[in-house]
Amino acid sequence: MKTHYAATATSTLLILLLNAVDFLSTVGLANYSSINGDHKKYTQFLLANGVARTPPMGWNSWNHFQCNVDEGMVKSTADALVSTGLAALGYRYVNIDDCWGELERDKKGNLRAKASTFPSGIKALADYVHAKGLKLGIYSDAGFRTCSKKMPGSLDYEEQDARTFAEWGVDYLKYDNCYHDGSKPHIRYAKMSSALLKVGRPILYSICEWGQEDPAKWAGRYGNAWRTTGDINDTWGSITSIADQNNIWGRYAGPGRWNDPDMLEVGNGAMTLEEYRSHFSIWALMKAPLLIGCDVRAAGTSTLRILGNKEVIKVNQDPLGVQGRKIRSNAGLEIWAGPLAGKRAVVVLWNRSKSEASISVRWKEIGLSPNTPVIVRDLWAHKFVSMGKQYGITARVAPHACKMYILSPPKTK
Ligand code: GLA
Repeated sequence: MKTHYAATATSTLLILLLNAVDFLSTVGLANYSSINGDHKKYTQFLLANGVARTPPMGWNSWNHFQCNVDEGMVKSTADALVSTGLAALGYRYVNIDDCWGELERDKKGNLRAKASTFPSGIKALADYVHAKGLKLGIYSDAGFRTCSKKMPGSLDYEEQDARTFAEWGVDYLKYDNCYHDGSKPHIRYAKMSSALLKVGRPILYSICEWGQEDPAKWAGRYGNAWRTTGDINDTWGSITSIADQNNIWGRYAGPGRWNDPDMLEVGNGAMTLEEYRSHFSIWALMKAPLLIGCDVRAAGTSTLRILGNKEVIKVNQDPLGVQGRKIRSNAGLEIWAGPLAGKRAVVVLWNRSKSEASISVRWKEIGLSPNTPVIVRDLWAHKFVSMGKQYGITARVAPHACKMYILSPPKTK
């Protein structure tokens, strides 16, 4: 089954690449319009809330803090996003995950911020982050309880809760999948989607259904992003397996609707810097939401250098919005690639094996004409790569590391 999907995904990618990146052929840009034309046919089935035209970027509390959240740490994280320069690079959503609320609703059935940890309430927090030019995200669940079981879910309270979120000034809702009534997710997730559309405030809607019922096939109608997998953790095994699962669904992503392979683990400490660089590079190439999952207030220089790599962020935020995908894999040596706006392409050479290796890619494999020169930029070395032969590139890659390049057409006069 997997192989079938992988093969289909790869052939679709090749077609996309051939259409979209054939910048060295005479056809050039014209092919983009046929892709966009195709997309237009389907926009009637897509959520029209106007947000997430590029993948969302920001921070989320869960990966590092789990239930240990309070208003002080949310505020100081917002401060740190600004002082580190990450906010200016695009990390604008400050998202509180599970455990922000009281166990029970109030007498009118409203959700309540937990008095012991969020005494000033969520509206005050939203005002605080908005004053810094940031946005506030919150979390609920398409069931009777959230996954922590420490607060109510929004099932059967969709309209009331959506109104509450809007009154508080919330900009983003992550909507989880625990403790529900057994009804189909597309029913439960659709209810919150239409509730959010009624509140008169654009709220990015992130569907967290863990990929159980192939959400890529239906979630773009209701939400701006959907999880394609179970929860990530701070291990090499987790990020490689999640990358592969998310890869299958590449063709369903596009502006306003993204596959979500879960939040970043960069900076949480259990992987090597090379592994974190690979994690970040592949998430960026796959057009994943880039939600920082570490303690930004304590992030060291090497973490900030990864999360703050402007050139990699630009790949993620590319206006074409096509998810890059795995082209080839052989004994852990992999090529991932995708088209970018401006007749460019991104290529990652990823060494998932245990030893240093040489990885080669020929332009032909990613849909480019083999002989015409291209400009190659190394996004981690921040250098142009000078090239002898023009038909591809070969690099030595350390174990678990990657090389990431943008290929551009040579400048014309
Ligand atoms: C689920 C989600 C996680 C996180 C937790 C919170 O496991 O997939 O991302 O939100 O719930 O309890």
